[in-house]
Amino acid sequence: MSRPRSVYTATRGFLARQPLRRRVLALVLLLVAGVLAAGGVATTHALQTYLLNRTDGQLRQVAGQTRDALLHGDDDADRVQIPPEDAVRFVVSADDIRSAMLPATPGSIDHVRDLPHAEQVRLAKKVPDSPRTFEDRALPGPYRLVATTFKNGARLVVGLPLRSLNDTVRRLVLIEFAVGLAGLAVTAALGSMLIRVGLAPLGRMTTTTRRIAETDLTGPEAAVRLRAPVLPPQTEVGQLGSGLNHMLEAIDASFQARNEAERQLRQFIADASHELRTPLSTVRGYAELFDRSTRDRDGSPELARNLDLAELGTAMRRIAEESNRMSLLVDDLLLLARLDQGRPLDHRPVDLCRLAVDAASDFRVRDQDHPIRLDLPADPLVVDGDEGRLRQVLANLLANVHAHTPAGTVVDLRVRGDGDGAALIEVHDDGPGVPPVAVDHVFDRFYRADTSRTRASGGTGLGLAIVQAVVDAHHGTVRVSSRPGETTFRVRLPAG
Ligand SMILES: Nc1ncnc2c1ncn2[C@@H]1O[C@H](COP(=O)(O)OP(=O)(O)OP(=O)(O)O)[C@@H](O)[C@H]1O
Ligand SMILES: [Mg+2]
Repeated sequence: MSRPRSVYTATRGFLARQPLRRRVLALVLLLVAGVLAAGGVATTHALQTYLLNRTDGQLRQVAGQTRDALLHGDDDADRVQIPPEDAVRFVVSADDIRSAMLPATPGSIDHVRDLPHAEQVRLAKKVPDSPRTFEDRALPGPYRLVATTFKNGARLVVGLPLRSLNDTVRRLVLIEFAVGLAGLAVTAALGSMLIRVGLAPLGRMTTTTRRIAETDLTGPEAAVRLRAPVLPPQTEVGQLGSGLNHMLEAIDASFQARNEAERQLRQFIADASHELRTPLSTVRGYAELFDRSTRDRDGSPELARNLDLAELGTAMRRIAEESNRMSLLVDDLLLLARLDQGRPLDHRPVDLCRLAVDAASDFRVRDQDHPIRLDLPADPLVVDGDEGRLRQVLANLLANVHAHTPAGTVVDLRVRGDGDGAALIEVHDDGPGVPPVAVDHVFDRFYRADTSRTRASGGTGLGLAIVQAVVDAHHGTVRVSSRPGETTFRVRLPAG
Protein backbone atom coordinates (compact mmCIF):
# COMPACT_ATOMS: atom_id res chain seq x y z
CA MET A 1 0.00 0.00 0.00
CA SER A 2 2.78 2.38 0.98
CA ARG A 3 4.93 1.44 -2.01
CA PRO A 4 2.54 2.62 -4.75
CA ARG A 5 1.89 5.68 -2.65
CA SER A 6 5.56 6.55 -2.44
CA VAL A 7 5.93 5.93 -6.20
CA TYR A 8 2.98 8.26 -6.76
CA THR A 9 4.48 10.91 -4.46
CA ALA A 10 7.88 10.59 -6.13
CA THR A 11 6.30 10.92 -9.59
CA ARG A 12 4.36 13.95 -8.50
CA GLY A 13 7.47 15.48 -7.01
CA PHE A 14 9.41 14.78 -10.18
CA LEU A 15 6.67 16.33 -12.35
CA ALA A 16 6.40 19.35 -10.07
CA ARG A 17 10.14 19.97 -10.47
CA GLN A 18 9.92 19.99 -14.28
CA PRO A 19 9.55 23.35 -16.01
CA LEU A 20 6.05 24.12 -17.29
CA ARG A 21 7.33 24.10 -20.87
CA ARG A 22 8.52 20.51 -20.55
CA ARG A 23 5.37 19.37 -18.79
CA VAL A 24 3.05 20.90 -21.38
CA LEU A 25 5.11 19.43 -24.23
CA ALA A 26 5.15 15.99 -22.61
CA LEU A 27 1.39 16.13 -22.15
CA VAL A 28 0.82 17.21 -25.75
CA LEU A 29 3.10 14.44 -27.05
CA LEU A 30 1.38 11.91 -24.84
CA LEU A 31 -2.03 12.98 -26.12
CA VAL A 32 -0.90 12.98 -29.76
CA ALA A 33 0.73 9.55 -29.32
CA GLY A 34 -2.45 8.26 -27.70
CA VAL A 35 -4.64 9.57 -30.53
CA LEU A 36 -2.27 8.20 -33.19
CA ALA A 37 -2.11 4.81 -31.46
CA ALA A 38 -5.90 4.63 -31.13
CA GLY A 39 -6.30 5.63 -34.78
CA GLY A 40 -3.69 3.05 -35.82
CA VAL A 41 -5.31 0.26 -33.85
CA ALA A 42 -8.75 1.11 -35.23
CA THR A 43 -7.50 1.31 -38.84
CA THR A 44 -5.52 -1.92 -38.54
CA HIS A 45 -8.44 -3.70 -36.96
CA ALA A 46 -10.82 -2.47 -39.66
CA LEU A 47 -8.47 -3.50 -42.46
CA GLN A 48 -7.82 -6.88 -40.87
CA THR A 49 -11.54 -7.54 -40.43
CA TYR A 50 -12.25 -6.45 -43.97
CA LEU A 51 -9.52 -8.63 -45.46
CA LEU A 52 -10.51 -11.60 -43.31
CA ASN A 53 -14.16 -11.25 -44.37
CA ARG A 54 -13.03 -11.18 -47.96
CA THR A 55 -10.87 -14.27 -47.44
CA ASP A 56 -13.78 -16.01 -45.72
CA GLY A 57 -16.04 -15.20 -48.67
CA GLN A 58 -13.45 -16.59 -51.03
CA LEU A 59 -13.02 -19.62 -48.80
CA ARG A 60 -16.74 -20.32 -48.71
CA GLN A 61 -16.97 -19.91 -52.44
CA VAL A 62 -14.12 -22.35 -53.09
CA ALA A 63 -15.55 -24.78 -50.54
CA GLY A 64 -19.06 -24.60 -52.02
CA GLN A 65 -17.91 -25.01 -55.57
CA THR A 66 -15.65 -27.93 -54.65
CA ARG A 67 -18.48 -29.57 -52.73
CA ASP A 68 -20.83 -29.16 -55.68
CA ALA A 69 -18.21 -30.51 -58.05
CA LEU A 70 -17.71 -33.54 -55.81
CA LEU A 71 -21.42 -34.19 -55.37
CA HIS A 72 -22.52 -33.66 -58.94
CA GLY A 73 -19.33 -34.72 -60.67
CA ASP A 74 -19.17 -31.26 -62.14
CA ASP A 75 -15.62 -30.80 -63.18
CA ASP A 76 -16.18 -27.93 -65.46
CA ALA A 77 -12.95 -26.03 -65.14
CA ASP A 78 -14.63 -22.74 -65.83
CA ARG A 79 -17.12 -23.06 -63.04
CA VAL A 80 -14.83 -24.25 -60.31
CA GLN A 81 -12.62 -21.45 -59.11
CA ILE A 82 -8.91 -22.14 -59.12
CA PRO A 83 -7.79 -21.83 -55.50
CA PRO A 84 -4.94 -19.43 -54.91
CA GLU A 85 -1.38 -20.59 -54.53
CA ASP A 86 -0.64 -22.63 -51.40
CA ALA A 87 -4.31 -23.29 -50.80
CA VAL A 88 -5.28 -26.49 -48.99
CA ARG A 89 -8.07 -28.71 -50.29
CA PHE A 90 -8.67 -32.33 -49.46
CA VAL A 91 -11.38 -34.84 -48.60
CA VAL A 92 -11.19 -37.34 -45.81
CA SER A 93 -13.54 -40.35 -45.85
CA ALA A 94 -15.78 -41.07 -42.92
CA ASP A 95 -13.64 -43.95 -41.72
CA ASP A 96 -10.44 -41.96 -42.14
CA ILE A 97 -9.10 -44.72 -44.38
CA ARG A 98 -9.00 -42.71 -47.49
CA SER A 99 -8.08 -39.21 -48.06
CA ALA A 100 -7.42 -37.47 -51.28
CA MET A 101 -5.98 -34.25 -52.43
CA LEU A 102 -8.40 -32.61 -54.69
CA PRO A 103 -7.01 -31.03 -57.74
CA ALA A 104 -10.69 -30.81 -58.77
CA THR A 105 -9.75 -28.84 -61.77
CA PRO A 106 -7.06 -29.62 -64.19
CA GLY A 107 -4.15 -27.27 -63.71
CA SER A 108 -5.04 -26.26 -60.21
CA ILE A 109 -3.06 -29.11 -58.76
CA ASP A 110 0.11 -27.02 -58.98
CA HIS A 111 -1.30 -24.51 -56.60
CA VAL A 112 -2.61 -26.85 -53.99
CA ARG A 113 -0.37 -27.70 -51.09
CA ASP A 114 0.18 -31.38 -50.62
CA LEU A 115 -0.33 -32.69 -47.08
CA PRO A 116 0.53 -36.16 -45.75
CA HIS A 117 -2.49 -38.42 -45.12
CA ALA A 118 -2.14 -38.42 -41.33
CA GLU A 119 -2.11 -34.63 -41.23
CA GLN A 120 -5.17 -34.51 -43.47
CA VAL A 121 -7.05 -36.82 -41.13
CA ARG A 122 -5.99 -34.85 -38.06
CA LEU A 123 -6.96 -31.54 -39.57
CA ALA A 124 -10.30 -32.88 -40.86
CA LYS A 125 -11.25 -33.65 -37.27
CA LYS A 126 -10.10 -30.28 -35.96
CA VAL A 127 -11.47 -27.82 -38.47
CA PRO A 128 -14.99 -26.49 -37.71
CA ASP A 129 -17.78 -25.75 -40.20
CA SER A 130 -17.24 -22.02 -40.08
CA PRO A 131 -13.94 -20.41 -41.16
CA ARG A 132 -11.28 -20.29 -38.45
CA THR A 133 -7.64 -19.27 -38.35
CA PHE A 134 -5.18 -22.06 -37.62
CA GLU A 135 -1.48 -22.06 -36.92
CA ASP A 136 -0.73 -25.70 -37.45
CA ARG A 137 2.58 -27.49 -37.66
CA ALA A 138 1.45 -29.16 -40.90
CA LEU A 139 0.89 -25.79 -42.51
CA PRO A 140 3.52 -23.22 -43.47
CA GLY A 141 2.11 -20.32 -41.48
CA PRO A 142 -1.37 -19.18 -40.50
CA TYR A 143 -4.33 -20.48 -42.53
CA ARG A 144 -8.01 -19.80 -42.67
CA LEU A 145 -9.67 -23.24 -42.76
CA VAL A 146 -13.27 -24.40 -43.14
CA ALA A 147 -14.72 -27.94 -43.32
CA THR A 148 -17.89 -29.32 -44.92
CA THR A 149 -19.37 -32.67 -43.95
CA PHE A 150 -21.02 -34.84 -46.58
CA LYS A 151 -23.95 -37.14 -45.92
CA ASN A 152 -21.71 -40.19 -45.95
CA GLY A 153 -19.57 -38.62 -43.22
CA ALA A 154 -16.68 -37.63 -45.45
CA ARG A 155 -15.22 -34.21 -44.70
CA LEU A 156 -14.03 -31.69 -47.21
CA VAL A 157 -11.42 -29.28 -45.84
CA VAL A 158 -10.55 -26.11 -47.70
CA GLY A 159 -7.94 -23.61 -46.52
CA LEU A 160 -6.44 -20.38 -47.72
CA PRO A 161 -3.10 -19.01 -46.56
CA LEU A 162 -3.19 -15.75 -44.59
CA ARG A 163 0.41 -14.82 -45.33
CA SER A 164 -0.35 -12.06 -47.84
CA LEU A 165 -3.17 -10.73 -45.62
CA ASN A 166 -0.79 -10.62 -42.67
CA ASP A 167 1.86 -8.99 -44.86
CA THR A 168 -0.58 -6.28 -45.88
CA VAL A 169 -1.58 -5.65 -42.28
CA ARG A 170 2.05 -5.64 -41.16
CA ARG A 171 2.94 -3.16 -43.87
CA LEU A 172 0.07 -0.93 -42.76
CA VAL A 173 1.28 -1.11 -39.16
CA LEU A 174 4.78 -0.18 -40.28
CA ILE A 175 3.50 2.77 -42.30
CA GLU A 176 1.34 3.89 -39.38
CA PHE A 177 4.29 3.60 -37.06
CA ALA A 178 6.55 5.63 -39.35
CA VAL A 179 3.88 8.28 -39.95
CA GLY A 180 3.14 8.37 -36.21
CA LEU A 181 6.80 8.88 -35.34
CA ALA A 182 7.13 11.61 -37.95
CA GLY A 183 3.93 13.20 -36.61
CA LEU A 184 5.26 13.08 -33.05
CA ALA A 185 8.58 14.61 -34.16
CA VAL A 186 6.79 17.44 -35.98
CA THR A 187 4.45 17.96 -33.00
CA ALA A 188 7.43 18.07 -30.65
CA ALA A 189 9.28 20.59 -32.82
CA LEU A 190 6.27 22.82 -33.52
CA GLY A 191 4.87 22.41 -30.01
CA SER A 192 8.08 23.37 -28.27
CA MET A 193 8.45 26.36 -30.58
CA LEU A 194 4.88 27.49 -29.92
CA ILE A 195 5.19 26.94 -26.19
CA ARG A 196 8.48 28.84 -26.15
CA VAL A 197 6.92 31.74 -28.05
CA GLY A 198 3.81 31.64 -25.84
CA LEU A 199 5.77 31.54 -22.59
CA ALA A 200 8.46 34.03 -23.62
CA PRO A 201 6.54 36.95 -22.00
CA LEU A 202 6.64 35.01 -18.70
CA GLY A 203 10.42 35.00 -19.00
CA ARG A 204 10.39 38.73 -19.61
CA MET A 205 8.11 39.21 -16.59
CA THR A 206 10.52 37.21 -14.48
CA THR A 207 13.37 39.42 -15.69
CA THR A 208 11.31 42.51 -14.83
CA THR A 209 10.54 41.31 -11.31
CA ARG A 210 14.17 40.28 -10.79
CA ARG A 211 15.37 43.70 -11.88
CA ILE A 212 12.84 45.36 -9.57
CA ALA A 213 14.07 43.16 -6.72
CA GLU A 214 17.65 44.26 -7.47
CA THR A 215 16.68 47.96 -7.40
CA ASP A 216 17.44 49.90 -4.23
CA LEU A 217 14.01 50.83 -2.87
CA THR A 218 15.16 52.37 0.38
CA GLY A 219 16.28 55.82 -0.75
CA PRO A 220 14.18 59.01 -0.69
CA GLU A 221 13.68 58.88 -4.46
CA ALA A 222 12.81 55.16 -4.53
CA ALA A 223 10.32 54.25 -7.27
CA VAL A 224 9.19 51.22 -9.21
CA ARG A 225 9.55 52.36 -12.81
CA LEU A 226 9.72 48.98 -14.58
CA ARG A 227 6.59 47.38 -16.04
CA ALA A 228 5.80 43.94 -17.42
CA PRO A 229 5.29 43.71 -21.21
CA VAL A 230 1.76 44.59 -22.29
CA LEU A 231 0.06 41.70 -24.10
CA PRO A 232 -3.46 41.09 -25.42
CA PRO A 233 -5.70 40.98 -22.32
CA GLN A 234 -7.62 37.94 -23.54
CA THR A 235 -4.53 35.72 -23.07
CA GLU A 236 -3.70 34.31 -19.65
CA VAL A 237 -0.16 35.66 -19.85
CA GLY A 238 -1.62 39.04 -20.83
CA GLN A 239 -3.92 38.96 -17.78
CA LEU A 240 -1.01 38.01 -15.56
CA GLY A 241 1.03 40.87 -17.02
CA SER A 242 -1.73 43.42 -16.52
CA GLY A 243 -2.29 42.15 -12.95
CA LEU A 244 1.41 42.50 -12.29
CA ASN A 245 1.42 45.99 -13.79
CA HIS A 246 -1.54 47.05 -11.64
CA MET A 247 0.33 45.81 -8.60
CA LEU A 248 3.51 47.63 -9.65
CA GLU A 249 1.54 50.83 -10.25
CA ALA A 250 -0.03 50.54 -6.78
CA ILE A 251 3.42 49.97 -5.25
CA ASP A 252 4.84 52.88 -7.23
CA ALA A 253 1.99 55.12 -6.13
CA SER A 254 2.59 54.19 -2.50
CA PHE A 255 6.30 54.89 -2.94
CA GLN A 256 5.52 58.27 -4.42
CA ALA A 257 3.12 59.03 -1.58
CA ARG A 258 5.77 58.00 0.96
CA ASN A 259 8.44 60.03 -0.82
CA GLU A 260 6.15 63.05 -0.96
CA ALA A 261 5.27 62.68 2.73
CA GLU A 262 8.96 62.42 3.60
CA ARG A 263 9.79 65.41 1.42
CA GLN A 264 7.05 67.44 3.12
CA LEU A 265 8.28 66.35 6.51
CA ARG A 266 11.85 67.36 5.68
CA GLN A 267 10.61 70.67 4.31
CA PHE A 268 8.47 71.17 7.42
CA ILE A 269 11.40 70.54 9.75
CA ALA A 270 13.66 72.81 7.71
CA ASP A 271 11.04 75.59 7.69
CA ALA A 272 10.33 75.20 11.40
CA SER A 273 14.05 75.37 12.22
CA HIS A 274 14.38 78.41 10.00
CA GLU A 275 11.46 80.11 11.72
CA LEU A 276 12.92 79.41 15.13
CA ARG A 277 16.40 80.57 14.19
CA THR A 278 15.49 84.27 13.84
CA PRO A 279 13.92 84.75 17.27
CA LEU A 280 16.56 82.54 18.86
CA SER A 281 19.43 84.58 17.40
CA THR A 282 17.66 87.77 18.48
CA VAL A 283 17.35 86.46 22.03
CA ARG A 284 20.98 85.29 22.02
CA GLY A 285 22.12 88.68 20.61
CA TYR A 286 20.39 90.65 23.38
CA ALA A 287 21.64 88.23 26.01
CA GLU A 288 25.23 88.67 24.79
CA LEU A 289 24.83 92.45 24.66
CA PHE A 290 23.59 92.44 28.23
CA ASP A 291 26.41 90.15 29.29
CA ARG A 292 29.03 92.45 27.68
CA SER A 293 27.58 95.53 29.30
CA THR A 294 27.93 93.97 32.77
CA ARG A 295 31.75 93.40 32.47
CA ASP A 296 34.61 95.91 32.72
CA ARG A 297 37.41 96.17 30.18
CA ASP A 298 39.40 93.24 31.70
CA GLY A 299 36.42 91.06 31.34
CA SER A 300 35.76 90.65 35.06
CA PRO A 301 32.14 90.93 36.18
CA GLU A 302 31.34 94.36 37.43
CA LEU A 303 27.68 94.36 37.89
CA ALA A 304 25.61 97.51 37.44
CA ARG A 305 28.59 99.80 36.82
CA ASN A 306 28.13 100.18 33.05
CA LEU A 307 24.54 99.14 33.04
CA ASP A 308 22.25 101.37 31.03
CA LEU A 309 18.76 100.72 32.31
CA ALA A 310 17.04 101.96 29.17
CA GLU A 311 19.13 99.57 27.03
CA LEU A 312 18.40 96.76 29.44
CA GLY A 313 14.68 97.51 29.19
CA THR A 314 14.77 97.33 25.39
CA ALA A 315 16.78 94.11 25.48
CA MET A 316 14.35 92.50 27.91
CA ARG A 317 11.32 93.65 25.91
CA ARG A 318 12.77 92.24 22.68
CA ILE A 319 13.68 89.00 24.43
CA ALA A 320 10.13 88.74 25.75
CA GLU A 321 8.66 89.50 22.30
CA GLU A 322 10.78 86.93 20.55
CA SER A 323 10.12 84.33 23.24
CA ASN A 324 6.46 85.02 22.82
CA ARG A 325 6.77 84.61 19.07
CA MET A 326 8.62 81.35 19.56
CA SER A 327 6.06 79.98 21.95
CA LEU A 328 3.24 80.90 19.52
CA LEU A 329 5.14 79.12 16.76
CA VAL A 330 5.75 76.08 18.95
CA ASP A 331 2.04 76.05 19.90
CA ASP A 332 1.08 76.12 16.21
CA LEU A 333 3.56 73.36 15.39
CA LEU A 334 2.31 71.26 18.25
CA LEU A 335 -1.29 71.72 17.16
CA LEU A 336 -0.45 70.76 13.58
CA ALA A 337 1.49 67.69 14.77
CA ARG A 338 -1.50 66.62 16.87
CA LEU A 339 -3.91 67.10 13.98
CA ASP A 340 -1.52 65.19 11.69
CA GLN A 341 -1.45 62.33 14.16
CA GLY A 342 -5.23 62.20 13.86
CA ARG A 343 -5.79 62.74 17.57
CA PRO A 344 -9.51 62.70 18.25
CA LEU A 345 -11.16 66.09 18.53
CA ASP A 346 -14.04 66.99 20.73
CA HIS A 347 -17.36 66.16 19.17
CA ARG A 348 -20.03 68.27 20.76
CA PRO A 349 -22.81 70.40 19.35
CA VAL A 350 -21.35 73.83 18.59
CA ASP A 351 -23.48 76.83 17.65
CA LEU A 352 -21.57 78.55 14.85
CA CYS A 353 -23.60 81.76 15.25
CA ARG A 354 -22.40 82.17 18.82
CA LEU A 355 -18.82 81.52 17.70
CA ALA A 356 -19.13 84.12 14.92
CA VAL A 357 -20.55 86.73 17.33
CA ASP A 358 -17.65 86.14 19.76
CA ALA A 359 -15.03 86.22 16.97
CA ALA A 360 -16.45 89.47 15.55
CA SER A 361 -16.52 91.19 18.92
CA ASP A 362 -12.93 90.05 19.66
CA PHE A 363 -11.89 91.38 16.27
CA ARG A 364 -13.61 94.72 16.89
CA VAL A 365 -11.79 95.15 20.18
CA ARG A 366 -8.40 94.35 18.66
CA ASP A 367 -8.72 96.12 15.33
CA GLN A 368 -10.62 99.37 14.94
CA ASP A 369 -9.25 99.99 11.43
CA HIS A 370 -11.18 97.16 9.78
CA PRO A 371 -14.95 97.48 10.08
CA ILE A 372 -16.57 94.06 10.47
CA ARG A 373 -20.13 93.14 9.47
CA LEU A 374 -21.92 90.04 10.69
CA ASP A 375 -24.47 88.13 8.63
CA LEU A 376 -26.13 85.35 10.66
CA PRO A 377 -29.23 83.17 10.19
CA ALA A 378 -32.22 83.74 12.45
CA ASP A 379 -31.87 80.36 14.16
CA PRO A 380 -28.77 78.88 15.75
CA LEU A 381 -26.71 76.78 13.34
CA VAL A 382 -25.32 73.79 15.18
CA VAL A 383 -22.60 71.41 14.00
CA ASP A 384 -20.79 68.58 15.76
CA GLY A 385 -17.24 69.60 16.44
CA ASP A 386 -14.46 70.90 18.61
CA GLU A 387 -15.44 74.37 19.80
CA GLY A 388 -11.91 75.51 20.66
CA ARG A 389 -10.53 74.53 17.27
CA LEU A 390 -13.42 76.08 15.36
CA ARG A 391 -12.90 79.33 17.27
CA GLN A 392 -9.29 79.17 16.14
CA VAL A 393 -10.39 78.79 12.50
CA LEU A 394 -12.41 82.02 12.72
CA ALA A 395 -9.65 83.80 14.60
CA ASN A 396 -6.99 82.83 12.03
CA LEU A 397 -9.14 83.92 9.08
CA LEU A 398 -9.95 87.26 10.70
CA ALA A 399 -6.31 87.73 11.78
CA ASN A 400 -5.32 87.43 8.15
CA VAL A 401 -7.61 90.31 7.20
CA HIS A 402 -6.02 92.31 9.99
CA ALA A 403 -2.50 91.37 8.86
CA HIS A 404 -2.75 91.35 5.09
CA THR A 405 -5.20 94.12 4.17
CA PRO A 406 -4.80 97.89 4.57
CA ALA A 407 -6.75 99.88 7.12
CA GLY A 408 -10.31 100.60 6.04
CA THR A 409 -10.84 97.21 4.44
CA VAL A 410 -14.32 95.98 5.29
CA VAL A 411 -14.73 92.42 6.57
CA ASP A 412 -17.91 90.38 6.21
CA LEU A 413 -18.36 87.36 8.43
CA ARG A 414 -21.24 85.22 7.20
CA VAL A 415 -22.66 82.04 8.64
CA ARG A 416 -25.43 80.13 6.87
CA GLY A 417 -26.78 76.67 6.30
CA ASP A 418 -26.15 74.88 3.06
CA GLY A 419 -28.90 72.93 1.28
CA ASP A 420 -27.93 69.46 2.50
CA GLY A 421 -27.61 70.36 6.17
CA ALA A 422 -23.98 71.45 5.98
CA ALA A 423 -22.87 74.76 7.46
CA LEU A 424 -21.00 77.49 5.59
CA ILE A 425 -18.73 80.06 7.19
CA GLU A 426 -17.49 82.82 4.88
CA VAL A 427 -14.91 85.45 5.67
CA HIS A 428 -14.99 88.05 2.94
CA ASP A 429 -12.94 91.24 2.61
CA ASP A 430 -12.59 93.93 -0.04
CA GLY A 431 -8.83 94.22 0.35
CA PRO A 432 -6.19 93.82 -2.38
CA GLY A 433 -6.57 90.01 -2.34
CA VAL A 434 -4.18 87.10 -2.62
CA PRO A 435 -1.87 87.28 -5.67
CA PRO A 436 -3.01 84.75 -8.32
CA VAL A 437 0.27 82.79 -8.13
CA ALA A 438 -0.21 82.36 -4.39
CA VAL A 439 -3.84 81.23 -4.39
CA ASP A 440 -2.95 77.54 -4.76
CA HIS A 441 -0.37 77.71 -1.98
CA VAL A 442 -1.91 79.79 0.79
CA PHE A 443 -2.84 76.62 2.71
CA ASP A 444 0.72 75.25 2.50
CA ARG A 445 2.71 75.21 5.72
CA PHE A 446 5.00 78.22 6.17
CA TYR A 447 3.77 79.77 2.95
CA ARG A 448 3.58 83.56 2.84
CA ALA A 449 2.43 85.30 -0.29
CA ASP A 450 3.84 88.65 0.70
CA THR A 451 7.59 88.07 0.46
CA SER A 452 8.34 91.72 1.20
CA ARG A 453 7.44 91.17 4.82
CA THR A 454 10.37 89.88 6.80
CA ARG A 455 10.05 86.69 8.76
CA ALA A 456 10.74 88.67 11.88
CA SER A 457 7.86 91.06 11.41
CA GLY A 458 5.31 88.93 9.61
CA GLY A 459 3.49 85.76 10.59
CA THR A 460 4.92 82.32 10.20
CA GLY A 461 2.63 81.16 7.41
CA LEU A 462 0.95 78.49 9.53
CA GLY A 463 -2.40 80.23 10.11
CA LEU A 464 -4.20 78.85 7.04
CA ALA A 465 -2.41 75.48 7.31
CA ILE A 466 -4.00 75.16 10.76
CA VAL A 467 -7.39 76.23 9.36
CA GLN A 468 -7.08 73.51 6.71
CA ALA A 469 -5.99 70.84 9.22
CA VAL A 470 -8.83 71.66 11.64
CA VAL A 471 -11.44 71.69 8.86
CA ASP A 472 -10.07 68.41 7.50
CA ALA A 473 -10.34 66.89 10.96
CA HIS A 474 -14.03 67.90 10.91
CA HIS A 475 -14.37 66.25 7.46
CA GLY A 476 -15.12 69.64 5.94
CA THR A 477 -13.54 71.69 3.17
CA VAL A 478 -12.00 75.13 2.95
CA ARG A 479 -11.61 77.06 -0.31
CA VAL A 480 -10.36 80.50 -1.25
CA SER A 481 -11.43 82.69 -4.12
CA SER A 482 -9.64 85.96 -4.54
CA ARG A 483 -9.33 88.92 -6.84
CA PRO A 484 -8.62 92.54 -5.95
CA GLY A 485 -11.51 93.84 -3.83
CA GLU A 486 -13.07 90.38 -3.43
CA THR A 487 -11.41 87.80 -1.22
CA THR A 488 -13.51 85.04 0.28
CA PHE A 489 -12.43 82.13 2.47
CA ARG A 490 -15.29 79.60 2.49
CA VAL A 491 -15.38 76.86 5.16
CA ARG A 492 -17.91 74.10 4.69
CA LEU A 493 -18.64 71.81 7.64
CA PRO A 494 -20.80 68.73 7.27
CA ALA A 495 -24.02 68.39 9.22
CA GLY A 496 -23.60 67.14 12.77
N1 LIG B 1 -7.40 88.05 3.54
C1 LIG B 1 -6.24 87.97 2.89
N2 LIG B 1 -5.90 88.95 1.98
C2 LIG B 1 -4.72 88.84 1.31
N3 LIG B 1 -3.80 87.89 1.50
C3 LIG B 1 -4.09 86.92 2.38
C4 LIG B 1 -5.29 86.91 3.13
N4 LIG B 1 -5.28 85.84 3.94
C5 LIG B 1 -4.12 85.19 3.72
N5 LIG B 1 -3.39 85.85 2.81
C6 LIG B 1 -2.07 85.42 2.27
O1 LIG B 1 -1.88 84.03 2.55
C7 LIG B 1 -0.63 83.82 3.20
C8 LIG B 1 -0.76 82.66 4.15
O2 LIG B 1 -1.58 82.99 5.25
P1 LIG B 1 -1.32 82.30 6.63
O3 LIG B 1 -2.40 82.74 7.56
O4 LIG B 1 -1.17 80.86 6.43
O5 LIG B 1 0.07 82.87 7.07
P2 LIG B 1 0.44 84.25 7.69
O6 LIG B 1 -0.82 85.02 7.97
O7 LIG B 1 1.43 84.89 6.82
O8 LIG B 1 1.14 83.84 9.03
P3 LIG B 1 0.45 83.34 10.38
O9 LIG B 1 -1.01 83.25 10.12
O10 LIG B 1 1.09 82.04 10.66
O11 LIG B 1 0.79 84.39 11.40
C9 LIG B 1 -0.35 85.13 3.89
O12 LIG B 1 1.04 85.29 4.04
C10 LIG B 1 -0.96 86.14 2.96
O13 LIG B 1 -0.01 86.53 1.98
MG1 LIG C 1 -2.35 84.25 9.10
